[in-house]
Amino acid sequence: MLKYYLPVKFQCQLVFQLPLREKQHEGQPLLLSGPNILNILLDRGGVPSFCLNKYLRNSLIFYMQHVLIDGIKYDLPALEKDCWHRLVNGAVQGRNPMHNATVANLGEAGINMRTVVLRKVSPIEKRLTFYTDIRSGKWGEIEQDNSISWLLYDAAARIQIRASGLASLHQTDELADLAWSSSNVLNRKNYLSVLVPSAATLNPVSGLIQEMESEEITLEQTEEGRKNFGVITTQIKWMEWLWLNGSGHRRASFVYDEAGKFTANWLVP
Ligand SMILES: Cc1cc2nc3c(=O)[nH]c(=O)nc-3n(C[C@H](O)[C@H](O)[C@H](O)COP(=O)(O)O)c2cc1C
Repeated sequence: MLKYYLPVKFQCQLVFQLPLREKQHEGQPLLLSGPNILNILLDRGGVPSFCLNKYLRNSLIFYMQHVLIDGIKYDLPALEKDCWHRLVNGAVQGRNPMHNATVANLGEAGINMRTVVLRKVSPIEKRLTFYTDIRSGKWGEIEQDNSISWLLYDAAARIQIRASGLASLHQTDELADLAWSSSNVLNRKNYLSVLVPSAATLNPVSGLIQEMESEEITLEQTEEGRKNFGVITTQIKWMEWLWLNGSGHRRASFVYDEAGKFTANWLVP
């Protein structure tokens, strides 16, 4: 018998992998509240502890209601809020590691992934937005099947966010007009190619006419690109957070309903 000390007083549950012969719980961790099932002892110092036999000791996982990152406690709702906060920062800060994201969809040839700039994040509506050329392959593919997935990673924070949902395409509406009107010359240049994106060429070309390759084009000259400009928003239905941590990674998922309310779970990383 070994004595274990509970890491955080009364904020800890014990998880047991039951023996396989316990068919009803096969492969599933069983959550048990410590004081209910084990003989929790109070040490002389007042620290709760418990005793386990060898068999149970091998299958014990400590379980807490929160995760501690940089001294800050996050429970699931706080973590969800933090994810959206990170995403907002990703959209508004050009040098933020989440400014560039990977977006994947299903095309005719299978899964298609590419880097995009995370342009807008709406934490209330649970939406992520990027801009694209409506002549690009992805626009047509998403018209056919609007399920898309996002992948973002902040290497310094060691946090990965994955999110997926249903995309909607905006080209001639107010949303696209507003996005276009707030784009600068450099961004608008992406929509000025006279050649269709992904068209095969004999030489390495930008697709821009000579004049447009110059840095000094005016905002007025870029108006030509408006007809090629589109906005893709994703209504997020599912989001997952993963934190890499030396003493054990942590992972959680959030599933959103129609009203944007979520149900959350901790997951085994
Ligand atoms: C850092 C970076 C940012 C990019 N941002 C965008 C973007 O916001 N929108 C976009 O359509 N393509 C963007 N691209 C180009 C795409 O990754 C991709 O090459 C292009 O859109 C064609 O993809 P498709 O053939 O799947 O449509 C970016 C590429 C890089 C490397």
